[in-house]
Amino acid sequence: MRITFRLNGVDTVIDTNPDRRVVDLLREDFNLTGTKESCGAGDCGACTVLVDGESRLSCLMLAAQLEGRQITTIEGVANGDVLNRVQRAFVEKGAVQCGFCIPGMALATLDLLNRNPAPSRTEIREGLAGNLCRCTAYQKIVDAVEAASASATDE
Ligand code: FES
Ligand code: FES
Repeated sequence: MRITFRLNGVDTVIDTNPDRRVVDLLREDFNLTGTKESCGAGDCGACTVLVDGESRLSCLMLAAQLEGRQITTIEGVANGDVLNRVQRAFVEKGAVQCGFCIPGMALATLDLLNRNPAPSRTEIREGLAGNLCRCTAYQKIVDAVEAASASATDE
């Protein structure tokens, strides 16, 4: 099946099996390995991508559902070598331990801050409830999201 979509700002056409999972397609066909797979069942958020700006689980999404969509992976978030404010905040607050959950956390954070630019710590925890960190770095992740939110006016 021929599928046309926009991937990290680039118009993209692929010819692939419509039943393929998007997480596989991104990692295998596009080498976008920042998109992680852990549970493969919609429970951990490691595979989060943005679909038309909203966070979605790419392990539950099929290739056919890409048609006409704008997809952003963690590789599409920075501006060249300049990190996005969310990425910067995660680094500056020491929120990254093994890093496995961080791409999904960062993308879910972008979605959250888009919907709620100044979330409380409770709202941050609720907003990221679908993203699990097996290193349990939650406190610093919440610190990072707070910092990213506060830095919004700088940009
Ligand atoms: S790998 Fe998709 S939610 Fe866990
Ligand atoms: S930093 Fe290791 S899983 Fe979150």
